[in-house]
Amino acid sequence: MPTLSIFGAQWGDEGKGKIIDLLAREADLVVRYQGGPNAGHTVVVGGEKFILRLIPSGILHVGKVNVIGNGVAIDPVALFGEIGELIARGVNVDPRCLRISAGAHVIFEHHRRIDALAERWRGAGRIGTTGRGIGPCYADKAARTGLRVADLVEPARLRTRLTAVLVEKNALIESVHKEAPFDIERTLAQVGEVAVRLAPFVADTGAEVRAAYKQGKSILFEGAQGAMLDIDHGTYPYVTSSNTGMAGIGTGAGFPPNKVERVLGIAKAYCTRVGEGPFPSEDKGKDGDTIREVGREFGSVTGRPRRCGWLDLVALRYALDLNGATGLILTNLDVLSVFPEIPVCVAYDVPGVRGAVSEYPAYLPALDDVRPRYERHAGWKTDISHVRRYADLPRAAREYVEWVEERIGVPIEMLSVGPERDAVIPRR
Ligand code: IMP
Repeated sequence: MPTLSIFGAQWGDEGKGKIIDLLAREADLVVRYQGGPNAGHTVVVGGEKFILRLIPSGILHVGKVNVIGNGVAIDPVALFGEIGELIARGVNVDPRCLRISAGAHVIFEHHRRIDALAERWRGAGRIGTTGRGIGPCYADKAARTGLRVADLVEPARLRTRLTAVLVEKNALIESVHKEAPFDIERTLAQVGEVAVRLAPFVADTGAEVRAAYKQGKSILFEGAQGAMLDIDHGTYPYVTSSNTGMAGIGTGAGFPPNKVERVLGIAKAYCTRVGEGPFPSEDKGKDGDTIREVGREFGSVTGRPRRCGWLDLVALRYALDLNGATGLILTNLDVLSVFPEIPVCVAYDVPGVRGAVSEYPAYLPALDDVRPRYERHAGWKTDISHVRRYADLPRAAREYVEWVEERIGVPIEMLSVGPERDAVIPRR
């Protein structure tokens, strides 16, 4: 391997969970470096479906070290819910196979509450967050009022810092949102309980990952969400609150990104998005509904129906370029089998700009009103979910893949044609 980064090259939900699980076989360490329980990485093993939110997908393989880096926003309640579910289904989760950074920020109940209140406050301008407290937690990190895992496991420090924070949050909740405040003593007691359970997993994960690299171990960096949801480079303000790709590895794993050798973007053969915000190639008509139905496009964390549309090469090239991708894995190709003709967005029409725009617009407000220009490809109209060799794909499917490959400038290294672990077609 030895160092590989997997990132979402669209708006999240590209099928990263399955691919990470597959490639985790060859890894010694699997490292999450950003996001939090807003992620929902779905992995199907032997017909059984697992949805991982905070724990890296390597947990489903025996003998891997799974790392939750300092850049992840950890909700300890969600974490122990997830650990409990995995253990109940026979998956081993102990401090040898799960390492949690002392520097990771903690999501508390007040973050989840403020997430919901802020969305209500935004009204029509709401982001459509997952409601998991992500934005408010990262906001406190930047404001330097957040608590980290290291603060949680030291009772005296926890009391002083959490009390100070809650006094301020209560003032906001009561005076701005006109809601009841948190009971500080009750909150401290609840958090203290979960902190005791967290303590054995806590480590200096950055040092451990760097040491593993020096020992020649294979490391897989598991991105959550997608490039178009990146706080700096995505469709701001309709984004999540972290750096979702390569840039997040330096800050969120404490590992130098220039030591990552392979960088694979994951994209669906079409596009989806959950929540609000620009989505130029969205299809609000019957084809969009068909994609949702055939692709089972409902949020794995929130159950929300996903907005669906066609592959957007302008946004995809931007995402791959931004992250220095060395290759792409194209997922859910089987879903397109129902269409006699497959549109692909190759350029935008941007108001006020003459001619077709094939580079992602630097002036982002323009995205609100762009119109997609499509090229249409012949479909293959036959089930491909059982195909495992590239040569066995119908010609029209191979032509579609090769046509996309030519336009994105990096090799398409693998195709995925179903949710099961083995439903993949390697290309090189
Ligand atoms: P937040 O991350 O909960 O604050 O949500 C911000 C935006 O990112 C919303 O549009 C969410 O729907 C979207 N989002 C967050 N996590 C994911 C994910 O894992 N997949 C897809 N969309 C996500």
